[in-house]
This record gives sequence, C-alpha cells and structure tokens, in this order.
Amino acid sequence: MSTTGRSFPQDFLFGAATAAYQIEGAAHEDGRRDSIWDVFCRVPGAVVGGDNGDVACDHYHRYRDDVALMKRLGLQTYRFSVSWSRVRPDGGALNPAGLDFYKRLVDELREADILPWLTLYHWDLPQALQERGGWTARSTADLFTEYALDMHDALGDRVPVWTTLNEPWCASFLSYTGGEHAPGHHSIEEGLLASHHLLLGHGQAVRELRARDASLDLGITLNHTVADPADPQKPADVDAARRVDGQFNRWFLDPIHRASYPADIVEDIRKVDAAAVASFEAAVRDGDLATIAQPIDTQGVNYYHGDLVSGTAPEHAPVSGGPATTRAGRSPYPSDAGIHPVERGLPRTAQGWEVQPEGLTRLLQRVHDEYTGEKGVRLFVTENGAAYDDVVTEGAVHDPDRVTYVRAHLGAVLDAVDAGVDVRGYFYWSLLDNFEWAWGYDKRFGIVRVDYETQERTPKDSALEYARIIAERALDD
Ligand code: NOJ
Repeated sequence: MSTTGRSFPQDFLFGAATAAYQIEGAAHEDGRRDSIWDVFCRVPGAVVGGDNGDVACDHYHRYRDDVALMKRLGLQTYRFSVSWSRVRPDGGALNPAGLDFYKRLVDELREADILPWLTLYHWDLPQALQERGGWTARSTADLFTEYALDMHDALGDRVPVWTTLNEPWCASFLSYTGGEHAPGHHSIEEGLLASHHLLLGHGQAVRELRARDASLDLGITLNHTVADPADPQKPADVDAARRVDGQFNRWFLDPIHRASYPADIVEDIRKVDAAAVASFEAAVRDGDLATIAQPIDTQGVNYYHGDLVSGTAPEHAPVSGGPATTRAGRSPYPSDAGIHPVERGLPRTAQGWEVQPEGLTRLLQRVHDEYTGEKGVRLFVTENGAAYDDVVTEGAVHDPDRVTYVRAHLGAVLDAVDAGVDVRGYFYWSLLDNFEWAWGYDKRFGIVRVDYETQERTPKDSALEYARIIAERALDD
C-alpha cells in the first residue's frame, strides 16, 4: 500500500473489459450461428481491411491463459459479454454447448478470485432475429428477456453483477441510423424504434431477474460524451451542444431514470422526420416507460472523449473523429443539421478522439447529481481507454500515450470521488487488442498486445503501470 499519492477508496474495484464478438473467435464452433456482425463483416467496405471476428483473439480456446494473465495483472473484476448467438443461435432455442463456454469461463474467473461482471448484450444480435426486424421489432425485447433468464438459470449462482445492455446508443442510432455498425441501416425511424425496444428489453430483463433473485446487482452501461459549446455566448453553439447531449446522453438517461424521453429532442427530430417520430410514438405503449424505469443498482458509464461543438460550419476542413460523423462521414444523429466539431488543441487518439480527462469528472458529477445520486444508484466507469499506434521494440510495447491516458482518467475519477460522487470502480477498455468493430484490427485499445499471427499476448507498459496502480491502490505523482 502506497503512503504517497492519492489513494482509492478501500472498496474501489479495478478491472478490464472485453466483448464476445471482439475477442472470442470460434465463430462457427459448438453450434454458434451468425450474428449481425458476422453478416455485416461480409459487406464489402463495411469494415476496414475486410476484417471479421472469425478468429479474433481466439479467446474461446485461450480463456484459461487470459484469466491467468488477468490474475497476474491483479485485476479484481472482469467485464465480459455473452454472445447471444452462441447461447441461442437462432435467437430462440437454447444451445447447451455454447452456454457451457460461459460456465467454464466463470468458473475459471472465480477460481482466480476475479469477480465476473456479465453483460448480456454487446451488439451481436442473432442474424435470425435481424431477419425478423432486429431491434425495430418489439418481439426482440421479449426474446432478449427470455435469453436473460436462460443465462440466469445457468449462472445466477455464480455471477453477482449483471449488465443488460452495452451502449444502446451504438446499438440503435449508430447501427440503424448512422449505418456505421451492424446492420448498417440509414433510417431515422429504425434508430428510434431500436432505441425504444432495446430499453424495453433492458427494463423487462431487470424486472424478471429481480423477481428471480433480489440480491443480484443489476444495471446498464451507457456511452456518453461531454459536449461543450465552442462559444458559450453564441446561441447556435449552445444549441448544438444541447442536441449532442440530448441525442447521445439524455435519450437514454431520461427514460431509465425519469420514465420519459427528452421532449426537446423528440420535437427536434419531428422537424426532420415527422413520420418517424409518429411511428416511434405509436411504438411506446402504455406502461413501457414504467418498465424501462425499473430501479437499478448500478449505472455503467463509458467515457472516451470530450467534444467541442459549434452551430456554424467551420471555415476550414472539418475536424474528424468528433461526435457528428461516422467513419464514413455520415451523421448518426437524427437531428444533425448544424452540429460541427471544433478543434481546441487537445491531444487526440489514433481514432481522432479528443483526450479530455476533466470531462469524465464532470460527467460523473452530472450523472450523480441529476440522475443516480438521490436514488443510491452506484456508478462504475465500465469503459475508458484509447487506441494508439503501438510499436513493438525488442519484445516490449512502450505506450507512453496510453499510460498518460489511463493515469489522467483515473485521476479524474478520484476528483469525482473527492467531490462526493458515488463511483465505485473503473474498467480499462480493453484487456486485449481486439476487433474494433468497423475499424477492424487496425485500432489497438489493449493494455495487452495481441499478435494476430501467433496469438501471443504481450503486456504493454500501460498494463504494467495499471498493475502497479492496482497493487498500490493509489496514483502517485
Ligand atoms: C465502446 C464499446 O463498448 C466497445 O465495444 C468498443 O470497442 C470501445 N467503445 C472502443 O470504441
């Protein structure tokens, strides 16, 4: 235990996160069938380099070694997701062989004294369900609830923490409106319907899991940005920031914690596509919002970047990597007119994401003050991390930018703790370099390097630094 520096609270949990499709591989083994990502990866141009998750980090076969590696790094908890198409390959009937993998993984984690933190949905919907409308169909929310209960039957006695959805903004608007993620559609109506049915699935699953076992720790993980107006005196800039915040953050926080969708954003979108909003409003049935607003125990906060936005187009080339465009240069926002990213000279990651640790402090404070604090909902940073163009030098990976990133964001978490925010833990994204969705294997987020030719794992300097911080439970100066 360090005697200098800033200490973390005694019960603060340190972990790392991954997701099934990004690391498991074994895409066609033991009865697993296609998910929407397997299919999307076959679309020419959808993923950089034509990459896919067929092999990924081969974690399906190497999970024992990977758990041993987590143990060596001193991780206290590991956040992973379950592949729905392994467990229920067609969305419906159970596949015991697929389920067994998660039993083995959880047993291995428990053996290593690492707390298993399970996410039910990290974007890999069974393709068979997409063919029936995917998340635009209400029935998908019902099938999701059944699948959640299957998982509880299998692992309820061994997994204490359950996250329903990872980043529903990505699974709806980025996927069904922005086209960047599977299934790659470009429809405002579909994005709206998907967001509602995802949230409904979340609420139903929480209600049913809670009825099974009141001691489970239940929650959801949302992705956030902190959007600041380029000029706080300019109404157009303030309005651009409001619309980014509304479509990215409040669209999900409000229904979960206040049982309502943000009225200002509904009206903004109505101006763009009245028919889509009418269809969305018809899909929100009586009682849905009460279901979505089931009490939860834990709110997962994913934070990667801040964003400075203006309401007027820049005179020079637009900034890439901001909140307003996908990789293909399209907007994932239903109401996107007049949202322009602005450069403010902060460092950027290999994806062009702005590094702004102080935004994390503000975000945690805001979520606590406006949504979770008075209800006693605990906050965890369930993802935070950065992609950099790592270089291997004599078998080592010196990644000073990632070391700086992790330290700065852990400092930002401590600032929030000092300000009285109930934040209980931090997960670095990601344990391993992995399949970064539409970016393929081109972007490396891991604290552990993966050589995709040999599947060799090499802890980077950032892993060693994170392990040191965990061991000392403190950030030194
Ligand atoms: C959030 C997602 O949950 C994860 O799957 C992704 O790899 C990281 N962001 C980095 O983009």
